[in-house]
Amino acid sequence: MATIKSTSYNIYVGEKSFDELNKFIKKQSYSKYVIICDENSLTHCLPKLLFNCEVLNQAEIIELESGEENKTLETCTQVWGALTDIGVDKKSLIINLGGGVVSDLGGFVASVFKRGIHFINIPTTLLSMVDASVGGKTGIDFSGIKNLIGTITEPKAIFANPVFLETLPLRQIKNGYAEVIKIALISDAAFWLVLKKLKNSIQFRNEEIITKAIELKNVIVKKDLHEENIRKSLNFGHSIGHALESALIKQEKDILHGEAVAAGTIMETQIAYQQKRITKKECDEICIYLHSIYPKIKITKETQALMMEYIKHDKKNEGGALCFALPKSIGKYELSCIVMPQDVKNVIELY
Ligand code: GLY
Repeated sequence: MATIKSTSYNIYVGEKSFDELNKFIKKQSYSKYVIICDENSLTHCLPKLLFNCEVLNQAEIIELESGEENKTLETCTQVWGALTDIGVDKKSLIINLGGGVVSDLGGFVASVFKRGIHFINIPTTLLSMVDASVGGKTGIDFSGIKNLIGTITEPKAIFANPVFLETLPLRQIKNGYAEVIKIALISDAAFWLVLKKLKNSIQFRNEEIITKAIELKNVIVKKDLHEENIRKSLNFGHSIGHALESALIKQEKDILHGEAVAAGTIMETQIAYQQKRITKKECDEICIYLHSIYPKIKITKETQALMMEYIKHDKKNEGGALCFALPKSIGKYELSCIVMPQDVKNVIELY
C-alpha cells in the first residue's frame, strides 16, 4: 500500500487502504457519517465498504442518480435537504463513494453546507482515482456548461482501493487510462516507457500504475492548487478533447470523457509536432499507442463546426488567441502555446 502526502491530507492507494480508513475514522470521532453514492457504487461498492469498515453500517446513505446530466444544482438542493433532515452538523463526515460525478457534487455539497463540513473521497472508477477525486476541484454543471459552479476544497483523505475496479467494464477502465497516459506525457518520460508496454485492462488498472499516476498529479496540484500556473498543464489533450466531448454530447452521441481526451491527445500531439515541440518519432509513438487502445471517433462536418465553437470559447484562451498546454518532448510541457483555429481544423482532418 502507498501513502501519498498531499497538501494537508493523505492519499492511500491499495487494497489495505480499508485499514487506513478504519484508523482515520477511529481517530476523528465524527458525530455522524453520510455516504453519498449512485446506483452503481451502491450495488457494486457499498457492500465491500461496509464489510471492511464496520462502523459505517450506521451511516446514512444518500443515493444520487448516476450520470453527468444529474450533476446539477437541483441534485445539490435535494442532497442539502436530505442532510438537513438527517440532522448533519459541523462534526459530521461526508463520504463520497463513486466516480467523478459523486466526488465533484458530493465535495461541492460538503464544501458549502454549514459553511463547510469534512468530506473524504473513496473513488470507485479508474477515472476518479487518477484524476477527479485528486486535487480539490468540486462542482456542478450549470446552464449547459461543465463545472461552471464550484469550489476548490480538498478532502480530508482519499482512499483509492483497486478492489473496486475489479467489476468495472473495460470501457470504463480505458476511460480512466487516458488520464494516466496524459500525465505521463507531460510529466514523466520514464513512466511513458512503462505505459507503452501495457496492452490490457488488467495492466491498465494495476496498483503501481494507479499510484504513480496519482503521485504525478499530486506533485502538480501541490505546487499550484488554484490552477494559476503549472496545473494548466493537466489540460493537455483537453482543449480539443473537451470540445469533442461537448459537441458529441450536444449531438446526443455516446461518448466518455476519456475517449474524447484520448482523441484530443492525438490531435494536440500532432499540433505539438507541427510546432516542433516534439519529434516525428515521438509524435508517431504517441498516436500509434493511443490508436491501438481507443476506437476512432467519427467526427462529421457538423461535429467539427460545433467543436470549433467550443474551442473558441475555451476558458484557457487569452486575448482571443487559442491557448493550449502542449508537450515539449515527452515528459515535459509548455503552457500558453498559441494555436490558430486553422491548425485545429487541420488536425481534425488528419485524425
Ligand atoms: N482534471 C484536471 C485538474 O484536476 O486540474
